[in-house]
Amino acid sequence: MADDTTDTKSSNQMWGGRFASGPDAIMEEINASIGFDKKLFAQDIRGSIAHATMLAHQGIISTDDKDKIVHGLNTILSEIESGNFEFSRQLEDIHMNVEARLATLIGPAAGRLHTARSRNDQVALDFRLWVKEELQKTEQMLTGLIAAFLDRAEEHAESVMPGFTHLQTAQPVTFGHHCMAYVEMFGRDRSRVRHAIEHLDESPIGAAALAGTGYPIDRHMTAKALGFREPTRNSIDTVSDRDFAIEFLSIAAIAGMHLSRLAEEIVIWSTPQFGFVRLSDAFSTGSSIMPQKKNPDAAELVRAKTGRINGSLVALLTIMKGLPLAYSKDMQEDKEQVFDAAESLELAIAAMTGMVRDMTVNTARMKAAAGSGYSTATDLADWLVREAGLPFRDAHHVTGRAVALAESKGCDLAELPLSDLQAIHAAITDKVYDVLTVEASVASRKSFGGTAPSEVRRQIAFWRARN
Ligand code: ARG
Repeated sequence: MADDTTDTKSSNQMWGGRFASGPDAIMEEINASIGFDKKLFAQDIRGSIAHATMLAHQGIISTDDKDKIVHGLNTILSEIESGNFEFSRQLEDIHMNVEARLATLIGPAAGRLHTARSRNDQVALDFRLWVKEELQKTEQMLTGLIAAFLDRAEEHAESVMPGFTHLQTAQPVTFGHHCMAYVEMFGRDRSRVRHAIEHLDESPIGAAALAGTGYPIDRHMTAKALGFREPTRNSIDTVSDRDFAIEFLSIAAIAGMHLSRLAEEIVIWSTPQFGFVRLSDAFSTGSSIMPQKKNPDAAELVRAKTGRINGSLVALLTIMKGLPLAYSKDMQEDKEQVFDAAESLELAIAAMTGMVRDMTVNTARMKAAAGSGYSTATDLADWLVREAGLPFRDAHHVTGRAVALAESKGCDLAELPLSDLQAIHAAITDKVYDVLTVEASVASRKSFGGTAPSEVRRQIAFWRARN
C-alpha cells in the first residue's frame, strides 16, 4: 500500500516554500475560513484592484502587469457572481482562492499583486469594507422602521391607551406617544450607526503584516480609491484592531434589545386578554391543532434573535480580550459572529417594520383599558393641589382614599358621586369630573415631551424633518 503520510500531500502553493509536506486533514479543517469568508469576495477584489492600481502608479509594478491583474480580477468577480467559481478549502481563505485563480488566468503577473501587502492588512480591509456597507444598510433600514412608526403615531396622536409602569396601569397616554418612544430609541440606534461609520472610515491597506513596508506605496491613494476618509495611522493597531466589528455588534445588540422590547409588547398586546392590536395574516401564523389561534411568531423570533446577537457580541469580545498585538489567527473567528448578527438584525428590523405597518390597532379596547385601573388618580391629586391648594403629599393621601372607596364600590373614580368625594375632602367640587376622563388627562400633559396630542404632534414634526 502506498504510504500517503507525506508525499501525496502537497504543501501550500501560497506559503509552502519552507514546508516539505501539506497539512493534516484536521489542520486544514480548523485553519480554513473559505466556508464563510467567501462572503468577502467583492470587497477582496475591490481592495486588490485599488492596491494594484496604486502599485503601478508608484512604479512598483508595471502598467502592463497591473492591466493584466485588474482584468483577471474582474473576470474572477463575474465568475463568482455567476456561480462559476470553485472555492477550494486547501487554499484556506478568500484571499488565496482569488489569488490562485488569478495565477491560473494571467500567469506570473499574478504573483506581483501581493507586493507590499499581507493577508493581515488585506483581511482588515475586506472586513472593514463589509462592515461599513452593512452599517449603511442598517442605517437605511432603521430609517424605514422610524418612518413606519411616524405614520402610526400620526394616525394615533389622539388615541388613548393605558400607560404602564411595572406592567400595571399607571396613567393614560396616547398610542401616538408610545410609538414616538420607539422612534427615539431607533433614532439613537441610527445615530450610533452613523458614529460607527465615522470611526471605521480609515483604510487599513498598506499596513502590511504589521510594520508597514519599504516599498514607496501611497496609502492615501488607496484610501481615497476605496472610499475611506484617510488611511489608518498605526500599522500595528491596524492589523490588530477589530473594534469596528465589536462596535457593529454592540450597536446590533442595543438595537436588538429595543426590537425585542417592541416584540414583547406586540406579543402582549395581541393576546385576546389585551386585544390592543391584531397582527396581519402576513405577519402571524396559525396553530396546527387549535384552529382559533393566531400566533405572533415573527415577534417571538425577533425576541429570540436578540439572544443570538448578544451571544455574538460576547463571543467576539472574548476572542479578542487576551490577544497580544498584533495579528493572531484567533481573529479569523470574528467574521461568522458578525455575519450571523448582521443577518439576524436585518431580519428583525424588516419583520418589525412590516408588523408595525400592518397591525390593526383596536382603539376602543385601548381606551376602555386606559380608563380602568384608576388611571386618572394622579389627575385627581393634581386637581386637589391646583384647585384646593393642598400639598401634593396630602392630595396623594386623599386620592388614595377615593380610590379605595371606588374599589370597594366596584366603580371608576369618575363614577363616584360628588357627595362621596366631598365626604373625603370638603374642597372637592363638581369641576373635578373634568379631569377624571382619560381624554382630559392626556390633553393636560402638555409638558415638553409629554403625552398630550399637541405635544405628540410636535415630536412627530421634529422627527419628520430629521428622517
Ligand atoms: N483568513 C485569515 C483571517 O481571516 C486571513 C489572515 C491570515 N493571516 C495570517 N497571518 N495567517 O484572519
